[in-house]
Amino acid sequence: MVVAGARVTLREFRFEDAPQVHQYASDPRVVNHLNWGPNAWGDTTAFLALVKAEAEASPRVSYQLAITENSTGLVMGAVRLAIESPRHRRAAIGYVLAASRWGLGYGTEAAQLMVQWAIRDAGMHRIEATCDPANHGSRRVLEKIGLQYEGYRRHDFLVRGHWRDSLMFALIADPAD
Ligand SMILES: CC(C)(COP(=O)(O)OP(=O)(O)OC[C@H]1O[C@@H](n2cnc3c(N)ncnc32)[C@H](O)[C@@H]1OP(=O)(O)O)[C@@H](O)C(=O)NCCC(=O)NCCS
Repeated sequence: MVVAGARVTLREFRFEDAPQVHQYASDPRVVNHLNWGPNAWGDTTAFLALVKAEAEASPRVSYQLAITENSTGLVMGAVRLAIESPRHRRAAIGYVLAASRWGLGYGTEAAQLMVQWAIRDAGMHRIEATCDPANHGSRRVLEKIGLQYEGYRRHDFLVRGHWRDSLMFALIADPAD
């Protein structure tokens, strides 16, 4: 699966991507608001093995794709679409980007491409996402691609020994469909 945008392209991960994945996944700044990491090398290779297994599952419900930079071909991050209910056409998205590429609109473009694919190609009706209330950048990404704030979930994750709350966002593709 490949989803091409103006400045980034989403594609399937490969084992050879491990060093580039590890670069951002082991960065404490990048995982500060996330419920995983910073990765040891074994965490990164286990992640890539999991992604491969998920890609080969039938039916496939998890799409964890590499965000590659069109100008360099480098893997800059990951975006995930998880189909939580095929019957109710409901899915969740998440994303992560190397700190060296923050502030360029790449995260927004990658999330937008994934949402468009989810609606047009996977037929999803509702796309959800959550983020740490302190994660201003992620909240902006969600707002910029059209997800609306729906509520506040307390103690959603236990992150490195502390309970973390979540802001809940969602987008309805076509209310009439
Ligand atoms: C959240 C994230 C994907 C945003 O990606 P991005 O490519 O920087 O997104 P954009 O360039 O579109 O900027 C979105 C917002 O990020 C913030 N931002 C921009 N540059 C930034 C920088 N250098 N440092 C920190 N935040 C920055 C701004 O609030 C910006 O909103 P604005 O456009 O209204 O100013 C990225 O910061 C990231 O990967 N963070 C770590 C992982 C993470 O938190 N993932 C989300 C989990 S819910």
